[in-house]
Amino acid sequence: MEILVAGGAGYIGSHTCVALLKEGHRVVVADNLCNSKAETIHKIEQITNKKVVFYQIDVTKEEDIRPVFSKHQFDGVIHFAGLKAVGESVKEPLKYYYNNVLSTIMLARMCQEYKVNRFVFSSSATVYGENEIPFVETMNLLPTTNPYGETKVISERILMDMQKANPEFCVSLLRYFNPIGAHDSGLIGEMPNGIPNNLMPYITQVAKGKLNKLKVFGKDYPTVDGTGVRDYIHVMDLAEGHVLALEKLTKGVQIYNLGTGQGTSVLQLIRAFEEANHIQVPFEISERRPGDIAEFYADASKAERELEFTARRGILDMCRDAWRFEKNLG
Ligand code: NAD
Ligand code: UD1
Repeated sequence: MEILVAGGAGYIGSHTCVALLKEGHRVVVADNLCNSKAETIHKIEQITNKKVVFYQIDVTKEEDIRPVFSKHQFDGVIHFAGLKAVGESVKEPLKYYYNNVLSTIMLARMCQEYKVNRFVFSSSATVYGENEIPFVETMNLLPTTNPYGETKVISERILMDMQKANPEFCVSLLRYFNPIGAHDSGLIGEMPNGIPNNLMPYITQVAKGKLNKLKVFGKDYPTVDGTGVRDYIHVMDLAEGHVLALEKLTKGVQIYNLGTGQGTSVLQLIRAFEEANHIQVPFEISERRPGDIAEFYADASKAERELEFTARRGILDMCRDAWRFEKNLG
């Protein structure tokens, strides 16, 4: 298939390009590089020894995206082109609603006009809100507490309504848990701007000496050791999940959790990182981070049943690969 990967120069998008190319699909990337670098496209080509067609464009702009749809006959679209900093979304809500919702509308509209009937969307476990664990696809969604989360809920809704009105249009809504790690070549990985908000990039930068000490946000949660528990999934497993979701998408709206079904606490992740890489991660316990949930992980059984998707890589692989990439950054 020829696939448009919107946001394909980013963290999850670049790994998904590698997985798509490995399965013999052709890849066209549309990315405005607002949170990524053009050199990532060359790294994808280097890893796979295949060509990637790249357009540096903003997918919210019709005048940018229409020529791409008229030039190519896409078999499907994967939409990663979103902004993702939760804290920033609270401070600058309009920027988030504008970019994340309009990118969905624009790509869906182009699909409708150019008769592209497969659409895979990057959603998030954040749409479940503070539900019971494990999170199951059939749950009623609860409020998300921040504009970023709301853009995911709204985008899901838009795509579901669009499918209802156009039965030949098929949508896969993929609710990611916590992607970490990197491709095992060490060539592509997560490159946060400034001080990382998320745990794994913070750990790798502390290990490298770029940051002093990790702050563990809270040790009084009702969890195994009092620290927050998440379902970390290797980004290459997540990427391979996209290829399966795309290939198996033949009708309707399909919603899948992409996680492992296993919870890992902050302290367990630190220990795993130290064990995998034989390096210390200095940390101190600090206050809870406002808005954090104590514990969540996926019920991963639907993706396993229907997509034959199971995450193959474990926590130690995630730690090893994340560290290899960080070291390569120089
Ligand atoms: P990322 O920032 O690395 O990648 C997003 C890419 O989209 C970037 O390359 C950016 O330049 C591009 N982009 C953003 N707006 C664009 C626009 N208007 N036009 C063209 N390109 C644009 O983020 P990521 O971690 O790879 O996340 C990809 C998607 O998955 C996002 O939608 C994010 O919300 C979602 N998601 C991420 C996580 C996570 O933990 N990383 C979890 C759940 C959901
Ligand atoms: C974050 C986002 C969420 C998004 C998810 C997936 C926030 C508030 N939420 O959530 O919307 O869907 O990523 O990428 O940003 N931690 C520390 N010290 C740190 C950083 C994190 O102790 O310096 C802890 C957190 O309290 C949490 C765990 O590590 O318990 C994971 O944090 P993080 O990587 O930010 O992911 P989420 O909180 O799941």
